[in-house]
Amino acid sequence: MCGIFAYLNYLTPKTRREVLDLLVNGLKRLEYRGYDSTGVAIDSTDGKDIVLIKSSGKVKILEDAISEKFAIDNKIDEPTLIHCGISHTRWATHGVPSEINSHPQRSGSDNAFVVVHNGIITNYKDVKTFLENHGYSFESDTDTEVIAKLVHHIWKAHPKYSFRELVEQVIQQLEGAFALAFKSKHFPGECVASRRGSPLLVGIKTKTRLATDHIPILYGKEHRPHGTNGRDMPVIPRSESTSEFMPVDDKEVEYFFASDASAVIEHTNRVIYLEDDDVAAVNKDGALSIHRLRKCTDDPHAREITTLKMEIQQIMKGNYDYFMQKEIFEQPESVINTMRGRLNFENGTVTLGGIKDYIPEIKRCRRLMLIGCGTSYHSAVATRQLLEELTELPVMVELASDFLDRNTPIFRDDVCFFISQSGETADTLMALRYCKQRGALIVGITNTVGSSICRESHCGVHINAGPEIGVASTKAYTSQFISLVMFGLVMSEDRISLQQRRQEIINGLKNLDKQIRKVLELDNKVLELANDLYQHKSLLIMGRGYNFATCLEGALKVKELTYMHSEGIMAGELKHGPLALVDHSMPVLMIILRDPVYAKCMNALQQVTAREGRPIIICEEGDEDTKSYSSRALEIPKTVDCLQGVLTVIPMQLLSYHIAVLRGCDVDCPRNLAKSVTVE
Ligand code: G6P
Repeated sequence: MCGIFAYLNYLTPKTRREVLDLLVNGLKRLEYRGYDSTGVAIDSTDGKDIVLIKSSGKVKILEDAISEKFAIDNKIDEPTLIHCGISHTRWATHGVPSEINSHPQRSGSDNAFVVVHNGIITNYKDVKTFLENHGYSFESDTDTEVIAKLVHHIWKAHPKYSFRELVEQVIQQLEGAFALAFKSKHFPGECVASRRGSPLLVGIKTKTRLATDHIPILYGKEHRPHGTNGRDMPVIPRSESTSEFMPVDDKEVEYFFASDASAVIEHTNRVIYLEDDDVAAVNKDGALSIHRLRKCTDDPHAREITTLKMEIQQIMKGNYDYFMQKEIFEQPESVINTMRGRLNFENGTVTLGGIKDYIPEIKRCRRLMLIGCGTSYHSAVATRQLLEELTELPVMVELASDFLDRNTPIFRDDVCFFISQSGETADTLMALRYCKQRGALIVGITNTVGSSICRESHCGVHINAGPEIGVASTKAYTSQFISLVMFGLVMSEDRISLQQRRQEIINGLKNLDKQIRKVLELDNKVLELANDLYQHKSLLIMGRGYNFATCLEGALKVKELTYMHSEGIMAGELKHGPLALVDHSMPVLMIILRDPVYAKCMNALQQVTAREGRPIIICEEGDEDTKSYSSRALEIPKTVDCLQGVLTVIPMQLLSYHIAVLRGCDVDCPRNLAKSVTVE
């Protein structure tokens, strides 16, 4: 959701055209996060002004607007030694997607200060009123515009302040969530960025190795309380800035500010993940420093420069038409990566390094809570029954938003799992903080190393599915599923009565990749079904027991990707309402496997066929009896009951994918949706 990409070259000559290409390319890497408009800001070719180019719609439209803008400007190919450019993909929250509402937002018609912003400023109305009273008029409907005008206002009052100091003043006035990158014509070649609640990282590229792996944090000396809500601007103490970071031997350096690592990995693998309220500034000497206004007792002295393990190929589409398609077909490998180094098939042991030390504490807990949103929540639904069985603890599954709405009681002896592909989902993160405050043990289950959920958890499991770019989650789901199964295996390691069950599950996990490959071979059959279904208005997906989660997840995939109505129905609830929807024309899909609820599922099937329903059936390979109830069936390999959901969800992923293509929908970026939902 929204994406920031800024690029600063210091003594590394680049033409404006190269800079623009870099910015546009960075935005393309962030496209998957979801957006509806775009924009860039660079220096004008005479170096005197800042040029803004913005458009609603896709990055491609922005690219065309850039070409048009510079069509007859030859200076675009002249190199600049030092330059800063910022760019943005916007996901509309305040104001419709339009050129004027796109970012960068500006301080005034002279573009003196420009800013890109992810998140929501909750007190923007107060700040806006304050600024209007000081003579500013507003052109957009965004909350972001107040930030650009506020920095200008403070600059007028404190013309001697450095760019970084101005931004420090600004963020003190802001409430809500943000990641920000600023550029100014009064501070050419400088960039200042900050975050609170929205992710932001700094990539560093130098020719020679850096002298340090740490950037010292510079703290303000004192803090004067504020809380002006825009009525008055406080004077904030300046922080000391003596030991700023500089690269070694030479001073040539390039900096990248981005919402996530996929935008910088092709340039550098050396990054710093900023923390809330960090202000990262590159000054006119090309030095990066990180500042914080106040020091709390346990604050560190430095931010670490981490080396990304990601490879550029992981974020490319390869031979596939869409990222989602690639990610569906990657699942035989991604599930292996989730288990790699953790599950020893020889001796049946499972080691989850990230939570190992906490297992005794977890075993003593009162209950387990699994909390997430969307697909991540479904992975909790999918594994709840098994976790209850293997841990012998009560297991609650919760949608993060609802959990917060209810002010759910949480106790010190609760263990709360936060499941999130991105590790940045605002509702999930809020729920995490809520539980942490109440003393619960926090376990993060994420796919994104360095994400907020990762960093704020006491311990956790990286699902290691690799970057997931398609907005609709696929491989992350199966990897979350397996991570939670492995957690159950760890918890039951010394339970004699559960050894046979554990072994059965471990054998199942061992064969899973081959079985996923077999399910993927159904692709053409699924395409035929998609051809039957794509012009319908609705699709009901029914199942129960271990496969209920597949119904929810399958229906979510259909909704997200195809914009068709779809509902995941607990087959046990059929008689309590959904049966009224069934007739000869209503598309129904039923998941019926030879597991403990087989007889009940068959009962549901009969209820549906008795109402002239003609369900498509997902059943076990060779189950002729069940198959005989329908002319359309998909057969999947048999595995242990609690792992079936990994296999049954794949035809649903493929089906929604094919229906989306047939309906002409944007598979990787469905309308109105975002990959990383960083606002509540
Ligand atoms: C968004 C995405 C979904 C995802 C959900 C939770 O709605 O479009 O695909 O399941 O967020 O995201 P998370 O990153 O927390 O798993």
